[in-house]
Amino acid sequence: MNQATQRLLDRLNQLGTISNSPDCLSRYYATPAFEKAGDLLNEWMTEAGLIVTKDCVGNIRGILHSQNSDAKHFVVGSHYDSVHNAGKYDGPLGILVGIELAIYAKEKANALPFHLNIVAFADEEGARFNTSYLGSSVLAGNFNLEWLDRKDDDGISIKELIEKEGNVASIPNYAIPADEWLGYYEVHIEQGPVLEDKNQSVCSVKGIAGQDRLTISWEGMAGHAGTSPMDLRKDAYCGAAEFALKVEEVGLKHKEKLVATVGKLNLFPNTSNVIPAKVTHSLDIRSADKQFLNQMVDDLNKMATEIAERRALKINWDLVQSNPPVACDIRLTQALTNAISSIGIEPTNLLSGAGHDGVMIAEVAPITMLFVRSRAGISHNPLEYTSPEDIQDAIQVSINYLENLTLAFGDKE
Ligand code: GLV
Ligand code: MN
Ligand code: MN
Repeated sequence: MNQATQRLLDRLNQLGTISNSPDCLSRYYATPAFEKAGDLLNEWMTEAGLIVTKDCVGNIRGILHSQNSDAKHFVVGSHYDSVHNAGKYDGPLGILVGIELAIYAKEKANALPFHLNIVAFADEEGARFNTSYLGSSVLAGNFNLEWLDRKDDDGISIKELIEKEGNVASIPNYAIPADEWLGYYEVHIEQGPVLEDKNQSVCSVKGIAGQDRLTISWEGMAGHAGTSPMDLRKDAYCGAAEFALKVEEVGLKHKEKLVATVGKLNLFPNTSNVIPAKVTHSLDIRSADKQFLNQMVDDLNKMATEIAERRALKINWDLVQSNPPVACDIRLTQALTNAISSIGIEPTNLLSGAGHDGVMIAEVAPITMLFVRSRAGISHNPLEYTSPEDIQDAIQVSINYLENLTLAFGDKE
């Protein structure tokens, strides 16, 4: 294993221990463990010779400036928030490969035709507010101000969190203006089984599937679990449960082009001897075909309405976020493909079912992504694993890609 890979693994392991829970890795946005991980990333970027700033949402951005003052920004990044009970590779791997790239590029900074930015994005998972890409949308300049009023399970809003250290009015100041972007690159674990099946360490990414995130609430009536006759109840949970099975049924019926998940559920009053009066749950639904996705969301909405009417429940359907499918840039992906071929790997181009920060950035700049093999395709799970050898390939491919970009963009300066 070379020195860069060893350093990256040491740091990845260190970040993997920074958690809000003693039992598992859990690093929701703007929590103490999140802040601690951000401080470390800031330190490592500074040590790599970058000029580092933290913006009002918590993005940590390190810049290695080109000597050409007209140069544009090329951004390499990923996220440092995590889901609950996470694996340690999802997010941090891409940031740490970025830091290795900066260490490599520092030696050759004189020849850099663009400002190399390494960014640790604040909130990609959206686990705390059920809304993803808070960080990348600030850098891309498309942060939706309506998100500010979103509240977490404790009633704390995004606005309150931002205003602890900064000011929401300053959000636009932290964007890279659209005409100053050159491109974006993210290294991420595949989170699926294809590379393992192909016995290949890395590949480029074709694009990212579209995704809708919804919050759905069912309202019935609380009652005594011992005295309320079964046929006279308005059990909000039973309505939600019937709907969750419909979600699975629709997902299975269209499994070639759709995935749909109810992953979060809150019951009120959540007490064993009380009939649930209110249930709020998430719906995460994804497809590469936006029209089809819209159709499926409409169909599910009709099914939910029918269930609610039949069970005399009230339902509230809230589309929290809707992201279209995005494509990776053909020209940048060709430069990445050349970098992959140069280490003797046959080029493969996969579609990402998982969401990534590039979704927001694709609105203003061309994006590229490199996937690194995940053992058994497992992710969002502590069993997530990517081997040191594969990480070494990812670093080498990224260095070769940087060299290709330096040549391609250097010619034009
Ligand atoms: C992020 O991991 C997502 O795809 O939801
Ligand atoms: Mn991720
Ligand atoms: Mn994730």
